[in-house]
Amino acid sequence: MTDPFSPFRLAGLSLRNRIIKTATFEGMSPGGCVSEALIEHHRALAKGGVGMTTVAYCAVAPDGRTFADQLHMRPELVPDLRALTAAVHAGGAAASLQLGHCGAFCNNHDLARRRPVGPSRALNLVGALSGRVLADAMTETEIEDVTSAFVAAARLAREAGFDAVELHLGHGYLLSQFLSPGTNARRDRFGGSLENRARFALSVVERVRAALPPQTPVLAKLNLRDGFRGGLELDESVQVARWLEARGVDALVLSGGFVSRNPFYLFRGERPLRQMIAVEKSWAQKLALALFGPALIHAYPFEPLYFLPLAREIRRAVRMPLVLLGGVKSRDDLDTAMREGFELAAMGRALIHDPGLIGKYAAGSARESGCVPCNQCVAEMDREGGVCCSKVPSQIAERALSVRTAKASRP
Ligand SMILES: Cc1cc2nc3c(=O)[nH]c(=O)nc-3n(C[C@H](O)[C@H](O)[C@H](O)COP(=O)(O)O)c2cc1C
Repeated sequence: MTDPFSPFRLAGLSLRNRIIKTATFEGMSPGGCVSEALIEHHRALAKGGVGMTTVAYCAVAPDGRTFADQLHMRPELVPDLRALTAAVHAGGAAASLQLGHCGAFCNNHDLARRRPVGPSRALNLVGALSGRVLADAMTETEIEDVTSAFVAAARLAREAGFDAVELHLGHGYLLSQFLSPGTNARRDRFGGSLENRARFALSVVERVRAALPPQTPVLAKLNLRDGFRGGLELDESVQVARWLEARGVDALVLSGGFVSRNPFYLFRGERPLRQMIAVEKSWAQKLALALFGPALIHAYPFEPLYFLPLAREIRRAVRMPLVLLGGVKSRDDLDTAMREGFELAAMGRALIHDPGLIGKYAAGSARESGCVPCNQCVAEMDREGGVCCSKVPSQIAERALSVRTAKASRP
């Protein structure tokens, strides 16, 4: 059996092991800038032993942010991102940047346009209560502009020292909204058949792949299922995976869920409604969450490797490297991922709980993660100072200190 701690070559990139810290929004980019806390977060993950760490959600354009405090790629960001990638490299890991566009899933009050855009004219579920009730259908020119923005952002990511980029095709963000029959009602060549719904994502992938040197890996995060009735289903994602392989994607990160429709399909485990209400800044959203949250936000029981049964179908369909994600926590889970034929495994919450976990697994001093999973980190990422595990008091104390230090150093 393949050892998860054996090196792996992804395109031209040598990884010291097969474990990736998956993108988990850090909440450490106030004003869309790289904070010291963000650099420290990824430095700790690199020192803690992962093969590659992924900086979460960087929008390819200002209007691609779900919230104003997300990174969006621009030349001015490059020097600070370079400091981040240097810190990761010093810790012996590779750095990947997740690039995305939120489309109609938008609660950004800083939009250049009057309304967010997506595949079709639709209710903007995340922004409705703060006045951004509708999203418009994108024109072909806008589709082309966003495609070019992905290419430009990928080039800047390389300039900033990232070893890889991950294109976000899942979780109900723009490219996933196009892929999904539940959100794409277009009647032109970008809607209807799967081939048409996949056209935008495939063109982004093809253009980004062509714009980067072949040795720089391009990963894509794809939904196995959207997780709501009428959404993308496995038979379609299998076909999309085949097309992505043909377009030269270097690895697929297999996920699922649609944040605006069924957020906890993505995570599994407890539904931290009380914490989500507590950190919510808008009173209207607080009230809506309190009144409708229990009925609308479904909970799913957590199981180790919860996407494995679906991911096996993609494994049968393609030969490209695949990344198993979703409930990978223990040392045994890593072995299972390898035994099932996945070249790589990705972890989110277990590494929020303990950024040093992989080093402990490698040294044999631990075999289990202490992550519950209570999912309070999902609420915590919206608190000032960013994501932390609320079950680890030292992390709460460090966050409070970093907030105080950041405030004191502001001019
Ligand atoms: C706090 C938090 C923030 C997340 N933010 C992102 C994100 O920005 N982009 C993304 O693709 N997935 C995001 N996710 C989902 C994770 O990448 C991953 O799919 C999910 O946590 C399941 O993996 P796990 O069981 O190893 O935690 C986030 C998850 C958590 C817990």
